[in-house]
Amino acid sequence: MNIFAEEKKYKTLKNDLILRAAKGEQVERTPVWLMRQAGRILPEYRAVRAKLSGFKELVETPELAGEVTLQPVDILGVDAAIIFSDILVIPEAMGLPYEMIKGKGPWFENRIRSEADFKKVHKADVGSDLKYVTDAISLTKKELNGRVPLIGFAGAPWTIFAYMIEGSGSKTFSEARKMLYTNPKLSHQLLQLITDSTIEYLKAQIVAGADMIQLFDSWAGILPSNQYKEFSLNYINQICDAINEVPKTVFAKGAWFALQDMVDLNCNTIGLDWNMSPEKGRELFGDKKTLQGNLDPCLLYADEETIVTETKNMLNRFGSQRHIANLGHGVYPDTDPEKVKVFIKTVKEHQY
Ligand code: CP3
Repeated sequence: MNIFAEEKKYKTLKNDLILRAAKGEQVERTPVWLMRQAGRILPEYRAVRAKLSGFKELVETPELAGEVTLQPVDILGVDAAIIFSDILVIPEAMGLPYEMIKGKGPWFENRIRSEADFKKVHKADVGSDLKYVTDAISLTKKELNGRVPLIGFAGAPWTIFAYMIEGSGSKTFSEARKMLYTNPKLSHQLLQLITDSTIEYLKAQIVAGADMIQLFDSWAGILPSNQYKEFSLNYINQICDAINEVPKTVFAKGAWFALQDMVDLNCNTIGLDWNMSPEKGRELFGDKKTLQGNLDPCLLYADEETIVTETKNMLNRFGSQRHIANLGHGVYPDTDPEKVKVFIKTVKEHQY
């Protein structure tokens, strides 16, 4: 897409606060959204979900994915929508189908533990196997009608690798971490294949209408810093360098030790989790990056007064510019939506 097409797209948005904040432009107030805002907490989401066979039916039906993407915009008043999907659609498109098991989370029947297993996976054919995502994005863009920008996303290669090796969620991902030591060559080959698939996937999301993109490196925090550089940042770097059409956010959960190495990443925004300090973030990134985050998701279990005080405290620590207000990780499923509304209202009304 050329720069004029990009400008035109932004101009048709009624609320482009988050895009301006990402690009380091002046904003009249801090934009706010929540990671995992689509699904999880809203009764309206559960009502749609209850009529279906499962999570995947929702992800794979563009009309329904679009409907639940819009819910937090309508009900919570956030400044961005995030397309309802999952990071695990990429391993599936590469040849490893997943199931989402109630109470347990993701489960893969096949996993990668050897070179023979690796030979069975392939680069994702985005145009055919992930068309349901790009269709959901086009449809959602139409329905949004420029109210707020739409965020596209993918898992960072290391996090996707972790699920493909482990075959399920895990507290330690020790099978995935074992592979880095026992077969670094195979690890790099798989990470490269995931990276190539992800670049094509994110580009297709942008063509379909995503106004910005986020990479979720949910399992960043379990690697030692030298391995994080070698097996994760290298690949995040490739993705950031390949995508220049829209603003990019990198959220590496738990990777406080790698923030210094992320200063020169070719992205606009760095997500901070609640263990990372806004002051330290500013000191490291200066005016090179916008920061996103970083309220403790558990704060939303507190009483309203505490939520207001702590949200204001966070906002003051980041300052009024180059900040996108969010939690430090996804909102927890049993959070009261009324408490989320208190958080959002506090951000919108805050005077610095
Ligand atoms: O932000 C949004 O709300 C958009 C949709 C979205 C989902 N997953 C829907 C979902 C996004 C951005 C994700 C990202 C995702 N998925 C991540 C990275 C973010 C993070 O939280 O660290 C990860 C690690 C996954 C993998 C995954 N998907 C797990 C471990 C699980 C089970 C536990 C859980 O988080 O609920 C899922 C299932 C999932 N993905 C649900 C939703 C709404 C719940 C499924 C249901 O309704 O039954």
